[in-house]
Amino acid sequence: MSREILSVKGLNAAYGEAKVLFDIDMSVNTGQIVACVGRNGAGKTTLLKSIAGFLKPTSGSVTADNTLLSGMKSYDVAKFGVKYIPQDKKVFFDLTVRENLELGSYATKDYNWDQVIAYFPKLRLLMERKAGHLSGGERQMLMIGRAILGRPKVLLIDEPTEGLAPGIVAQLKSTFREISLKTSLLIVEQNLPLVCAIADKVYAVKDGRIVAELGDKESISVAACERYL
Ligand SMILES: Nc1ncnc2c1ncn2[C@@H]1O[C@H](COP(=O)(O)OP(=O)(O)O)[C@@H](O)[C@H]1O
Ligand SMILES: [Mg+2]
Repeated sequence: MSREILSVKGLNAAYGEAKVLFDIDMSVNTGQIVACVGRNGAGKTTLLKSIAGFLKPTSGSVTADNTLLSGMKSYDVAKFGVKYIPQDKKVFFDLTVRENLELGSYATKDYNWDQVIAYFPKLRLLMERKAGHLSGGERQMLMIGRAILGRPKVLLIDEPTEGLAPGIVAQLKSTFREISLKTSLLIVEQNLPLVCAIADKVYAVKDGRIVAELGDKESISVAACERYL
């Protein structure tokens, strides 16, 4: 049975005097892929950072699995099982794929790399390669692989397919579906066909506000998303 795993209520956020998010309400259920769409500068990254504890909201609440996250430090949010994968695809360039995964295991005490490899078979072949030499798609696989160690409750992923080749995007698409069986996904994504193919719910963000919620497969379409951008 599906239940609410992440809930954002009345969230406001600002950088100093500049208000960026206004009264954001959203929720993610177990087993769901929820997408957040919007133009550049709409506030999508700020929203994920606020949930992940990297930016303290000025008001409102973030709750995961009935636990209040707002006010927690980012590392405690991650430890609780809400993991954030930032937009900039930063991995440790001078470390190998294996060493990057080891860091993930070290943090979460989860050494179940088989699961990671099952999602991303290609990583097995790249184990001894320096992460700095990976393609963008391979780097994204590594970031997601590292993030799912420890079986997080929720993954927050910021623009995972930005700049990636279509073949890799297609592969990520099916992997997201598989991952969502165990870990709910909240994805910020500009690739609308991809969003519409995988999302159970879509929030459109404009100028820091949620201007639409498409809550079922029938109402989720590229045309419907575009109407709100
Ligand atoms: N660190 C920051 N300091 C001040 N303003 C910021 C900062 N990061 C983003 N902003 C501003 O907040 C707004 C939302 O940005 P962002 O959340 O990155 O949007 P999106 O991810 O939707 O492109 C923009 O106007 C941006 O200029
Ligand atoms: Mg962004």
